[in-house]
Amino acid sequence: MAQTWTPNSWRQKPIQQVPDYPDLAVLDSVEARLAKYPPLVFAGEARRLKSALANVAEGRGFLLQGGDCAESFAEHGADTIRDFFRAFLQMAVVLTFGAQQPVVKVGRIAGQFAKPRSSGVEKQGDVTLPSYRGDIINGIEFTEEARVPNPERQVMAYRQSAATLNLLRAFAMGGYANLENVHQWMLGFVKDSPQAERYRKLADRISETMDFMKAIGITAENHPSLRETDFFTSHEALLLGYEQALTRVDSTSGDWYATSGHMIWIGDRTRQPDHAHIEYCRGIKNPLGLKCGPSLTADGLLELIDILNPANEAGRLTLICRFGHDKVAEHLPRLIRAVEREGKKVVWSCDPMHGNTITLNNYKTRPFERILSEVESFFQIHRAEGAHPGGIHIEMTGNDVTECTGGARALSGDDLADRYHTHCDPRLNADQALELAFLLAERMKGGRDEKKMVVNG
Ligand code: TRP
Ligand code: MN
Repeated sequence: MAQTWTPNSWRQKPIQQVPDYPDLAVLDSVEARLAKYPPLVFAGEARRLKSALANVAEGRGFLLQGGDCAESFAEHGADTIRDFFRAFLQMAVVLTFGAQQPVVKVGRIAGQFAKPRSSGVEKQGDVTLPSYRGDIINGIEFTEEARVPNPERQVMAYRQSAATLNLLRAFAMGGYANLENVHQWMLGFVKDSPQAERYRKLADRISETMDFMKAIGITAENHPSLRETDFFTSHEALLLGYEQALTRVDSTSGDWYATSGHMIWIGDRTRQPDHAHIEYCRGIKNPLGLKCGPSLTADGLLELIDILNPANEAGRLTLICRFGHDKVAEHLPRLIRAVEREGKKVVWSCDPMHGNTITLNNYKTRPFERILSEVESFFQIHRAEGAHPGGIHIEMTGNDVTECTGGARALSGDDLADRYHTHCDPRLNADQALELAFLLAERMKGGRDEKKMVVNG
């Protein structure tokens, strides 16, 4: 791409998914205000995430990315954030043990507010209103006032992101993430699970490892790495005016960074190579995610890789694959082959949520078995192609919601009405998320044992 990039060059391009703001002068003034506010994240942190992801791209790490489908203003409480972090860290421990590799921890949090919609309008009975586009844009209530896009919401989203990030930083560095705590929570989960028998084997081996470390004098008191963790934030960079306002030059490198979050991704609906979202993202130096759905061809992917990562820098680009449990075998191999053939360095991550949404009793839901099945196929396909299955990307919460069916407690379609709280897509609850981690860790370990058998036999 010969054209010069600037933080606003995306404004010259066609764009999808833009809200219809009634008063553009108000929008301009909000964006001008945001542009003067402090950055939410620091460029050095984004670089650190990029180098951790570079290890994943080279096969030496695993990416765990997860959080809400859409954060909401109504559910901005300390408990919600704490419970999410608690479930997420437990998953990270289990996966670290399963993969025997560092797990790069990235939340869909502290900025995940804007939602792409398949239709611009929503119909209920004979009333038609603009669709809900996320709390950063309009309100979820089905009324005319709520659905009018309001620029002031961007300032609220910015402030909520700052507060969320502040608490997460305190949790990650202030003792809450201590491995011993996380391990105890994990044992509590296993004890209460209907699948306790099954999970205990892996949990016991983690316990033994912890005891061994303690016996040789490696403790959280003398090893900060046991009580602290690196936690990063991410969201879909959908609302480009907001992103632009938070785009800043890093004084150390002179490069542009999105400072709204450490990693941002491009949705499957807004990845047209000559459109605005790709234009914005190509110019910032953060690690990027690209959602890859069934309509993406191998050539289409290679074209996007050349635009987004022309220097073929490992860690820059994560391909987040979201095909559906029954489609992954049809679509993923051609993409892996093309990327491998061209020697492109990417992180392969599996989003087993977005291709597996069904409607049951008038609720959007996702069966746990299909989520697990897509991740399993993803792993198998990578093994068959000789590539590294580098991570997972999930929608989850730390709360005990009833949004996805299945799991050890076998939530059924009739249970969905009990605690269905999501503002957008159905999320795994804390137990389901941890179960997924256990089942994957089991398989990762199985995969390693098989490899050893081949080497030794
Ligand atoms: N610092 C290491 C890491 O982040 C170990 C660690 C400390 C950890 N607390 C954790 C790992 C909580 C997972 C979850 O990997
Ligand atoms: Mn979603």
